Amino acid sequence: MEEMKKGLEGVVALDTKISYIDGIQGILMYRGVKIEDLVDLPYDAVSYLLINGKIPNESELSEYSQELKDNRIINGKQIDVLKEFDFGVEALDGLRTAISCTAHFDLENNHHSPDANKNKTIKLVAKFPTIVAALHRASFDKEPIEPKDDLSHGANFLYMLTGKIPTDLEAEAMEKDLILSAEHELNPSTFSLRIAASTLSDLYSAVICGLCTLKGPLHGGARKGVMDMLDEVGNIENARPYVLNKLERKEKIMGFGHRVYKTYDPRARIYKDVARRLSIENGDTSWFDLAEELENILYHEFVEIRGKPIYPNVDFYSAVVYKYLNIPAELATSIFAMGRVSGWIAHCMEQYADNRVIRPRAHFV
Ligand SMILES: CC(C)(COP(=O)(O)OP(=O)(O)OC[C@H]1O[C@@H](n2cnc3c(N)ncnc32)[C@H](O)[C@@H]1OP(=O)(O)O)[C@@H](O)C(=O)NCCC(=O)NCCS
Repeated sequence: MEEMKKGLEGVVALDTKISYIDGIQGILMYRGVKIEDLVDLPYDAVSYLLINGKIPNESELSEYSQELKDNRIINGKQIDVLKEFDFGVEALDGLRTAISCTAHFDLENNHHSPDANKNKTIKLVAKFPTIVAALHRASFDKEPIEPKDDLSHGANFLYMLTGKIPTDLEAEAMEKDLILSAEHELNPSTFSLRIAASTLSDLYSAVICGLCTLKGPLHGGARKGVMDMLDEVGNIENARPYVLNKLERKEKIMGFGHRVYKTYDPRARIYKDVARRLSIENGDTSWFDLAEELENILYHEFVEIRGKPIYPNVDFYSAVVYKYLNIPAELATSIFAMGRVSGWIAHCMEQYADNRVIRPRAHFV
């Protein structure tokens, strides 16, 4: 039998046309387009690109956006179910149950035709933000806010969360966040979702698999971990003792390190710029300054002293962006999923189109 690779490190499990990562040079492409060239597009266009394989032209984008807008709303029965949740649970647990509930209300749930999958795709991408916002409001006994058609995917989410129309920069930040979260090759959640899809399970079930895997603190849960860390450190003076203490106890610092990137994560660079601009618009740069101080200290500790290529990953400055958008830490993983759902669906479709059950072997000891 082949040599076992712990954590499947470096193992190539399949061919994909959806994204490309060069972890040494710090390059990320969706469908062959560099992430830096995608972040100024609307999220809808990037979602379309991931799922359909091409950047939409004007009429394709307007049709896709309209379909999403037409499907943003969730029905009254579903809202009643959300209100019954025990809000002691983590937001991601609520989202997982809510998506399962969406599947129950979809008569096409177990239909596998291309048309049924297209309809399910639109519903999933469109309803994720509505569900996350409604769940959050329900946890405070607040009624959901109806989506607003004249707002982008990201801006509408912020509006449904708070009832306030976001500033242009806040709307831009949310759109960019969803784009930067949308896809990342065979990360753990996408891999788990492709395994589910490879058994020809339905799209909702596969997406729920992705959600369950995203939840962990070594994956999507790290973003909440960074937000909690920023709160715990509190100010620049505490940054160095906090970090040194963690490293001495051999604890992981959330938002740093990556299985594939051995250099600066290209998404972190874009988030950093957005975080800086938001801090200036806010008139309070303290979260940004604290994060930059942590980055500098950790560069010294990891790279200069220990010679380890451990840099900020996608979760580090995204957490700072969320701080400035007043997003509660417990929503961080759910919002990550709102963006990632387009990439997940693209991977499901790719798996269905050329399927072989994913079933590796274990080495018996
Ligand atoms: C992402 C992550 C799981 C990648 O893990 P991996 O490829 O399995 O690498 P390892 O966890 O084996 O780390 C390799 C070495 O770097 C260290 N390391 C990696 N990330 C670290 C971090 N964030 N803080 C402290 N040490 C870290 C490990 O302790 C290990 O040290 P050792 O060789 O002395 O044992 C890991 O970097 C991590 O746990 N990061 C924090 C969580 C996070 O931000 N996750 C989001 C990923 S996008």
